[in-house]
Amino acid sequence: MIVLGIESSCDDTSVSVLEDGKILSVATNTQLEHISFGGVIPEIASRAHLSFFPAVLQKALADSGRTPGEIDAIGVTYGPGLVGCLLVGVNFAKGLAFSLSRPLVPVNHIEAHITANYIEHPDIDFPFIVLVVSGGHTELVHVPEYGVYELIGKTRDDAAGECIDKVSKMLGLGFPGGRIIDELSARGDKNFVAFPRGMKNSLDFSFSGLKTAVKYYLEKQEPEFIKENIANIAASFLDSVTDSLTEKLFRAVKKYKVNTVLLAGGVSANSVLRKKVADFAGKKKIKFYYPSPKYCTDNAAMVAMTAYRKIMRSGSSEWNSGSDIDAVPFLKLSEKF
Ligand SMILES: Nc1ncnc2c1ncn2[C@@H]1O[C@H](COP(=O)(O)OP(=O)(O)OP(=O)(O)O)[C@@H](O)[C@H]1O
Ligand SMILES: [Mg+2]
Repeated sequence: MIVLGIESSCDDTSVSVLEDGKILSVATNTQLEHISFGGVIPEIASRAHLSFFPAVLQKALADSGRTPGEIDAIGVTYGPGLVGCLLVGVNFAKGLAFSLSRPLVPVNHIEAHITANYIEHPDIDFPFIVLVVSGGHTELVHVPEYGVYELIGKTRDDAAGECIDKVSKMLGLGFPGGRIIDELSARGDKNFVAFPRGMKNSLDFSFSGLKTAVKYYLEKQEPEFIKENIANIAASFLDSVTDSLTEKLFRAVKKYKVNTVLLAGGVSANSVLRKKVADFAGKKKIKFYYPSPKYCTDNAAMVAMTAYRKIMRSGSSEWNSGSDIDAVPFLKLSEKF
């Protein structure tokens, strides 16, 4: 079974080819058009997807060694995400499905981030708790069985990735800031500044207070001091973000008595977060999974894998060429198509 995955929910134009559960290729164009703005401009992003998709598809097919005629099914992200971006991906996928007479499987982007874990660990058992931490989402999810997603905690304001990107901008470190802050923090002292940890005693998260605390802290310092101590400030900030995330994750693991914990989404590439969860999992003797960095941020391999697992469960006759699929920008994880 060969599945083509298509992803365009934000600023990554991505196509992947999967065969029998193994990823053969992933071609991704991360749009550089947004860097000078310090954030993604939706209209620019959707237009860029439109111009990049043909070349990205060709590369994914060439790298996989497969031809369009060999594709058995197509999976496409239909939400959540930026509506214009989703529309481009969905309609590109519909055109392909129609011209090849193949079924089109609608994929939830957040379910795909979670399913990215199965690319390298196909045997992950239920039940588990997954912490989804990305640019737009921070969610704690209890997954008792296949396809059942119970939202048990979420951010009340900013997503963790959004907060990291905004603080990176305040520190003059560039966009997106996650990897830069991660690398810088490795050289810094996490105890240099005591930044707050938000929303204690709850499974919900809050990052806007931390963002404001960093802003006020920076306003009180001389530019020279900030420059000299940038690694220490970054490390202190990252320690606060990851403490907030893990405090809730560990509380959820105890509450739901699961033996397996997963990370998903772009921020799950973070080395401090991974280390804190790995230490906890080691101590409690529970299983811990996370995707390789290339499968943490947006990519079509996770979309192809999600579509493949859906087809394996329900058979491809469940899906048609997708004429009833539309972009759903605020799609919830628990919503069924
Ligand atoms: N090593 C890292 N440490 C911390 N954050 C990181 C790291 N690598 C990437 N990120 C962050 O991950 C985020 C991007 O993740 P992702 O691509 O999953 O988000 P998105 O697709 O924009 O949002 P969503 O999936 O919620 O729609 C950015 O905020 C980026 O800064
Ligand atoms: Mg994403």
